[in-house]
Amino acid sequence: MPVTLSDIRFRYDAHGPYVLDGLDLTIPDGQLIALMGPSGSGKTTLLQIIGGLLRPTGGTADVTASRDETRWVFQTPTLLAHRSVRHNIDIALMGDGWDERSRGARVERMIRDMRLEGLADTDVNLLSGGQRQRVQIARALASEPPLVLADEPTGQLDHATTGVVLDAIRAAHRRGTTIVIVTHDPYVAARCERVVTLEDGRVSSDEPGGHARRGPA
Ligand SMILES: Nc1ncnc2c1ncn2[C@@H]1O[C@H](COP(=O)(O)OP(=O)(O)O)[C@@H](O)[C@H]1O
Ligand SMILES: [Mg+2]
Repeated sequence: MPVTLSDIRFRYDAHGPYVLDGLDLTIPDGQLIALMGPSGSGKTTLLQIIGGLLRPTGGTADVTASRDETRWVFQTPTLLAHRSVRHNIDIALMGDGWDERSRGARVERMIRDMRLEGLADTDVNLLSGGQRQRVQIARALASEPPLVLADEPTGQLDHATTGVVLDAIRAAHRRGTTIVIVTHDPYVAARCERVVTLEDGRVSSDEPGGHARRGPA
């Protein structure tokens, strides 16, 4: 299993409350999973434990993807300022062992997938929030990483842009990437395979998403 969390406890301060308190979660290879729960329930904390940015206070976190192999998508994109869309995607692939020609083809493919064709040479500082978010997703998915952790990636997007982002995430999922999306949006959750909800520091519900459903709805 790429992610196996057993009896995870976590608190930010030695005397503070436990944010996560006895959480168990196993994520099989290639799963597309929505992580839900009220604000402050520990979704971001859990993502950071999975991504190796935080060490659990107790319990064990086994994650097969290294920190280098894990790509992040944040609610507010961080891009290389005053560089083009194309350059921002291209540098995300540098050092990943792509030869120049396949790297170029991959960048153009991501630009098309994210419907950024007319903006490839545009300075990212001139883009709208939704366009910037699509550049960030392109950067995260370009290298076909084994694990993608997305923290409310569509929180500030309109319906149409959310659809474009979801299509790209689901395409990466079909290629075998394991993806965890923190979301409050039932539309997003319904398009994942599995919906895990956090409450009181642990998993309060764990159900198949709409995407996993078979037969007539
Ligand atoms: N760096 C931090 N230091 C101390 N407390 C934090 C820190 N980050 C988050 N918390 C607290 O941990 C709890 C869970 O936060 P978080 O994981 O961000 O929840 P969510 O992403 O579900 O909104 C909240 O009570 C929050 O205030
Ligand atoms: Mg959060």
